[in-house]
Amino acid sequence: MATYLKELYCPRCSATYNPHEPHNLCECGTPLLVRYDLERIAREVTPDVWERRPEGLWRYRELLPVVHEENIVSLGEGGTPVYELEKVASEYGLGRLFLKDEGMNPTGTFKARGAAVGVSRAKELGLKTLAMPTAGNAGAAWAAYTSRAGIKMVVVMPQDAPLTTQAESVAYGAETYLIKGLISDAGKAVREACAKYGWFEVATLKEPYRIEGKKTMGLEIWEQFGGNLPDVILYPTGGGVGIIGMWKAFNELRELGWLKGRLPKMVAVQAEGCAPIVKAYREGKDKAEFFQGAQTIAAGIRVPSALGDFLVLDAVRKSGGTALTVTDNQILDAWKHLAVTEGALICPEGAACVVAAKKLAEEGFIASSDSVLILNTGAGMKYTELLKEKAKLLESGSLVS
Ligand SMILES: Cc1ncc(COP(=O)(O)O)c(C=O)c1O
Ligand SMILES: [Zn+2]
Repeated sequence: MATYLKELYCPRCSATYNPHEPHNLCECGTPLLVRYDLERIAREVTPDVWERRPEGLWRYRELLPVVHEENIVSLGEGGTPVYELEKVASEYGLGRLFLKDEGMNPTGTFKARGAAVGVSRAKELGLKTLAMPTAGNAGAAWAAYTSRAGIKMVVVMPQDAPLTTQAESVAYGAETYLIKGLISDAGKAVREACAKYGWFEVATLKEPYRIEGKKTMGLEIWEQFGGNLPDVILYPTGGGVGIIGMWKAFNELRELGWLKGRLPKMVAVQAEGCAPIVKAYREGKDKAEFFQGAQTIAAGIRVPSALGDFLVLDAVRKSGGTALTVTDNQILDAWKHLAVTEGALICPEGAACVVAAKKLAEEGFIASSDSVLILNTGAGMKYTELLKEKAKLLESGSLVS
């Protein structure tokens, strides 16, 4: 398998690192990103090679960091469908509204993409024990892929993380800890434990390969839109890996000369109860402050502080996008609405993007001629307890009396 993996680089101080040994952050404390030899790819590869391969994330292997094919740890991730939401679009005054359903991935979320690539690289680099803080879904995904790879996994999540994700992490055999507090508190515990036990930390953006997996959402969108891209992409933003990854993918495609049209406007969607990125965006800052008292029913975007905040803000601004919040009540309404009108039981984080699309159409940020894509990052079925408690979809009653 030809590899085009060139180096790791720091987007802040431009230092470079050898990609054939394990690295966490740059010495300056910034996340490291992967650089490929794009000139050589452009010379040696054409995109129709990808089309001829089986669907899924690994068809893009020239733009992925795994060097030896035997290190690939796969459960069939990627290749998720895009479908149109016609009824909702006409209701909201939108032109064409599409949804990419990441709930179709193994473990039911887009986190499988990051885990597939991150764990494959961990295997390739000979790492034995990985540890991560998680809002829930990433822990479940990494537990599954490490189990398949024969790597030990330690997962730390808030005690109120979605029950399904807690159960998954345990079921896949990860050493699973529930803590009082948020993902930021779990992060502190993991940091300390890694320093003490010598485990390799795989928290969001603390290693460079998870983002490469999430990048493949962008590559798929480009393929699914026929080599063009939608005008606007809405993404539920927690740690921001997905939005940073898609933006990286689009820019790599552009550098390769494979992107026909313009880049999309990238929109970061957060919950009103946890919106550090939106606050920084509105205040014109390039870094976000810790968001005190973070609270939202959309557990995946309950992330009060993100290491990659400056990269998210950069993608949003450079793309001419925006950042906005929605309320939990709006999320619940949109969640139910999409299920009953479109047959799409998405996740609350995805529902936040549905609300955001409506708001941006009302405000005129999205024109009726725009094509709009929502990332539904997970399956609604992972949130049954929330559906039961909050969405009143499961009301008990008797059919006959
Ligand atoms: C369903 C879901 N959506 C979105 C996110 C946010 O992901 P990111 O870190 O890419 O911003 C998460 C993270 O836990 C999630 O589980
Ligand atoms: Zn640096």
